[in-house]
Order: sequence, then C-alpha cells, then structure tokens
Amino acid sequence: MSRARTAVLISGRGSNLQALIDAAADPKFPAQIVLVISNIEGVYGLERARQAGIATAVISHKGLSREDFDAKIDAALEAADVRLVCLAGFMRILSDGFARKWAGRLLNIHPSLLPAFRGVHVHEQALEAGVKFSGCTVHFVVPELDAGPIVEQAVVPVLANDTPDTLAARVLEQEHRIYPEALRLLAEGKVKLQGGRAVFA
Ligand code: GRF
Repeated sequence: MSRARTAVLISGRGSNLQALIDAAADPKFPAQIVLVISNIEGVYGLERARQAGIATAVISHKGLSREDFDAKIDAALEAADVRLVCLAGFMRILSDGFARKWAGRLLNIHPSLLPAFRGVHVHEQALEAGVKFSGCTVHFVVPELDAGPIVEQAVVPVLANDTPDTLAARVLEQEHRIYPEALRLLAEGKVKLQGGRAVFA
C-alpha cells in the first residue's frame, strides 16, 4: 500500500510535527510527511522539517484575506500531491471553504478534552474551572473552531499545584503519543468522517 502523502501546517516550535516526523520515519508507518507549511518565518518547526529532509514552505497570512491565504495553502498542498493534512500548532482559523474541501482529510490537535475549553489559553481555562482531569484531542476539522468529530483523546490528571505550564507539559506528552496514532488510523482508512461523525472501521 502506498503511504499517504501528508502535509503538516505549523506556526511555531513544532513538537507535534516532530512526533509525526518520528513516527513516519518508520517505513511501515502508513503516512509520509512530504511538506511542512508555516505561516510564520523562522519558527523552529521549519528547522525540524529541514533536518528531516522534508520540503518546507512559508506562506504568510499578512495582508491577505482568509480566503486568499487559504487558496495559497491549498495550491501548495495540491502542487505537492498531498492527500492528508495535519494542523499542529497552526494558529490561523481556516475558511469554511477550505475546511469543506479537505473534510475527512484534515486533522487538528487541541490541548484539552473537547468539547471542554475551546480556543486559546486552554490550560488557564482548565485550571480556572477546577477540573481534576484534562487532556488532549485529535479531531477532524470542520468549519466551526475546535468542534470537529473526535478521533483520539488522552486524559491526564490535574494536580493541586499545577500551573498552566506544568499542565501544558503533561498534556503535551500525550499529544505526542496520540497524534501519530490518529494519523495512522486515518491513513489506514480505519477512521472516516461520515455524515458529520467519526466512524471507526
Ligand atoms: C500544542 O499544545 C497543540 O495542541 C496546540 O498548540 C501547541 C503546539 O505545540 N494546538 P507544538 O508547536 O506542536 O510544539
């Protein structure tokens, strides 16, 4: 079976990108990372991609409408013959048209147990709410932010003396474990987006 050509979209340090690169270094992994796109120049994630010999592109959102920015991303994905897309710390909201076009082939990772704590400052939100458990979610991307059908989740305890940083670090460890697992499921066709739900084979 040919490995699914996959792009990763980033805006920063790219530790989840690294987890995906490391998983895909195994030739038996069903996806290969063929392109990394960042909307911000000079971020460490781009360096990680270069070190792994993966093609990179910087597509700045500055001065562009959301639709024009997404059209540029889409063109880069098509030019690289990409089949699957993973958002990994990508800090732009994609247009409805982009989300619809890539529906079922587009994943995001979010550092909370969705549907709790969407958006930003997620760990602050969790501590503020006093939850005893938090975690992370890999989900299909749909037009509504942080709202798509869930592919994978992992749970971590919230400790009494946690700060947003200590909680983030505990959650991040689990992100690095579940994102490759979720990509594997999608690339193997073991999860599909059908009728607005994640359906598992
Ligand atoms: C992760 O916590 C991810 O869940 C969130 O942004 C962070 C990105 O970290 N969307 P990294 O760039 O993958 O290290």
